[in-house]
Amino acid sequence: MPKLKIAPSILSANFADLRGELRKISNADLVHIDVMDGHFVPNITFGPLVVKAVKKETGIPLDVHLMIEEPAKFISDFISAGADLVSVHIEATKEKSLEIIEQIKSLRAKAGIALNPQTPLSAVEDIISEVDFVLLMSVQPGFAGQRFREEVIPKIKQLRREWKGDIEVDGGINRENYRDVIQAGANILVAASAIFSEACREGKEPQVIIKEMKDEGNKVWH
Ligand code: DX5
Ligand code: ZN
Repeated sequence: MPKLKIAPSILSANFADLRGELRKISNADLVHIDVMDGHFVPNITFGPLVVKAVKKETGIPLDVHLMIEEPAKFISDFISAGADLVSVHIEATKEKSLEIIEQIKSLRAKAGIALNPQTPLSAVEDIISEVDFVLLMSVQPGFAGQRFREEVIPKIKQLRREWKGDIEVDGGINRENYRDVIQAGANILVAASAIFSEACREGKEPQVIIKEMKDEGNKVWH
């Protein structure tokens, strides 16, 4: 079985002090970086320059989630900047998805295919044997801090029955529901607000939340 991994998303970090924020998540397994272009999703975030700056500050592998149209144009820039894992959306790549997955792998990064909550698993059945991981969105992509969509739980279970690889789940994961997400079969958990903002409000350090999610998560991960 793949290893359980916690991937804090810097979308809820303090961008004026990314160096300090990265230190706070030094026990994370991956650093999740949400790239948005204002077209595929109604928000704009980071480009390759920010990925490059983050790479200089941490040895933790960078998990770059591309929520952009025409990702093929930017893949080599993100990988040169330091992306170790790159996911692209099936809704943005459609019939070019296999070509793009091959492009990511040829540049020696791990390739993932991402699905919006309403996109069925059948949309990726032709390419799943070629990907390194599948990212199931559990919110509509675009913003941190949204509510977890329960209807994604049966989708995680179905994918786990059919596929033994890494399953990443992204959106609305918090300290109340992460065990259910793991129990359903996910092994890479992304969390932005639960690790950066909610923890802060309670006066808890992000590292403490990450450790709790890993220790408790491993008890339910089978
Ligand atoms: C949403 C992003 C997520 C987001 C998760 O479009 O892909 O990675 O940062 O944020 P939370 O954990 O707050 O839902
Ligand atoms: Zn994401």
